[in-house]
Amino acid sequence: MKIGVMDSGIGGLNVLAALIKYRCGDGYVYLSDGKNLPYGEKSGEELKQIALRGVRRLVERGANAVVFGCNTLSVAALDFVRKRVVPPVFGLLPRPDLLNGKGLLLCTPTTALYLPNVSPNVCVLTPASLAGLIDKEYPKTALTEEYLSPLLLPYGDCEEVYLGCSHYSFAKSVFKRVLPKAKLLDGAENLAALVSAVLPEKGSKNPSIELLFTGEDQTERYLCILSSLLK
Ligand code: DGL
Repeated sequence: MKIGVMDSGIGGLNVLAALIKYRCGDGYVYLSDGKNLPYGEKSGEELKQIALRGVRRLVERGANAVVFGCNTLSVAALDFVRKRVVPPVFGLLPRPDLLNGKGLLLCTPTTALYLPNVSPNVCVLTPASLAGLIDKEYPKTALTEEYLSPLLLPYGDCEEVYLGCSHYSFAKSVFKRVLPKAKLLDGAENLAALVSAVLPEKGSKNPSIELLFTGEDQTERYLCILSSLLK
């Protein structure tokens, strides 16, 4: 089984790493759609076309199943794409319902438009340029911290934070510094567990990995990030 994974940049590598850990596939093809970053500021209509193009490209490269490593693409385009392609398509959907106590959910502005009912105990933040900033500077975090700290400071008593954009998982160290008491949640592991439960066979321990870029080729950087996630 070859699994295609798609995101606007590095965010979906968190999902790819989780899929590899759960041995979902024998091979993976990852589409980094840098030409269209940030997804989080695009309309639902634009995202549907972007998603369909991406899935078709992944299928051409041999993908038998596709996983959106991106909350924005999933909320805006998952149902649309599922009706138009044959292979199964899985999405990374934000789960505000997992926040029990005083919670904070961060997601892109577009994802916020599609959020299901959020409890009054949960605050929603949509830091517009955060995904782009993380995509640019990771593994460094200085600019991310400078941007994020003042936004998070008012939530010092928050108990749980849901990272509703796959890029934000690369800023966990910043969240931990600014909100040391908060438990951090994201959807990558749950999604990989679901994919592994649904797909018929267990994948390889040493799968093949192909990277595709619509923007600048960043193969070396991506492989480096992936190998640190797999440690
Ligand atoms: N990583 C994506 C997500 O999970 C979106 C980042 C972007 O805005 O391109 O929502």
